[in-house]
Amino acid sequence: MEQQDNEEVLILAIESSCDETAASVVKNGREVLSNVIFTQIDLHVRYGGVVPEIASRKHIEKINQVIEEALEQAGVALEEITAIAVTYGPGLVGALLVGVSAAKAISFATGKPLIGVHHISGHISANYIEYPELEPPFVCLVASGGHSHLVTVRDYGEYDIIGRTRDDAAGEAFDKVARAIGLGYPGGPKIDKLSREGNPDAISFPRAKVAENEYDFSFSGLKSAVLNYLNACRMKGEKICQADVAASFQKAVIDVLVAHSLHAVKEYGVDKFAIAGGVASNSSLRSAFAQECGKCGIRFFHPSPVYCTDNAAMIGAAGYYEYRKGVRHGYDLNAVPNLKLG
Ligand code: KG4
Ligand code: ZN
Repeated sequence: MEQQDNEEVLILAIESSCDETAASVVKNGREVLSNVIFTQIDLHVRYGGVVPEIASRKHIEKINQVIEEALEQAGVALEEITAIAVTYGPGLVGALLVGVSAAKAISFATGKPLIGVHHISGHISANYIEYPELEPPFVCLVASGGHSHLVTVRDYGEYDIIGRTRDDAAGEAFDKVARAIGLGYPGGPKIDKLSREGNPDAISFPRAKVAENEYDFSFSGLKSAVLNYLNACRMKGEKICQADVAASFQKAVIDVLVAHSLHAVKEYGVDKFAIAGGVASNSSLRSAFAQECGKCGIRFFHPSPVYCTDNAAMIGAAGYYEYRKGVRHGYDLNAVPNLKLG
């Protein structure tokens, strides 16, 4: 590790991989001094999902303001920053480019080191913010709009993906099912809320298993089962109880996520399990994991909802450990839309 133990490291972190323009100042990887998030959800609602061109344009409009606010709220001057961390993939290329260009410009103007961060590494590192005692190794479930990964965290920033989705990501399934039952975008929080009024055992939806890898996920069959159920009800003229559909669908997703995750934790012989990504803010998922981990004596880590969905504080946490390892990027750092985690 390059850093001296008594050195105070202030990371200015930038995140713009999808529809949140975000900047944050993080001290020594775990203390969030500011966490500014401009969410574009309102702009994309009418289209039922994120429109990449609109996202890029809005990032350009907002990025400087969000960065300035992050510094101001932290009470930190740009000269006091140790390094600049930025998400450079995966994500929407035009959206990523805005954050990467801003970070490069600040790095060039100030001479501060530039550190590119993997978005998923950021999501996982969100757990370090509120759990100062959490250290690798542990198993982490990353469930977001674009990813459903079961990961072993060997060390800071070092991961093995042991399970992934074969088709839709968990969040994508939430968004598609929400659209089908007429809840609109973004689906996850709406299904979460409506499910509280529904019966999770009202409709029996499938829990898919992937034959070749016991840790992999598949959610497209479940999504089709929900669509078939809705069509069948409409054809028969039966009334659809939205809350029951939402709760039964959500339970089917959670059952699979919990079963695969706990199996992995036991198989890999660790006693720590963390969740990350937008879907990790789901209230039923959090209580299901709390209950099951409790039964098995596994310590369960779950970031506050604001650190589950996209934010820059998580990039600051991940960026800090990259900084300590001596990772530095040049001004040729580019956006990599399909960046691999490794
Ligand atoms: O991590 P995130 O903000 O962005 C990506 O990296 O994809 O995740 C967004 C996803 C969306 O699909 C959204 O519907 C889902 O997370 N989500 C939720 C909840 N809040 C957000 N899914 C289920 N329950 C929630 N409460
Ligand atoms: Zn994300």
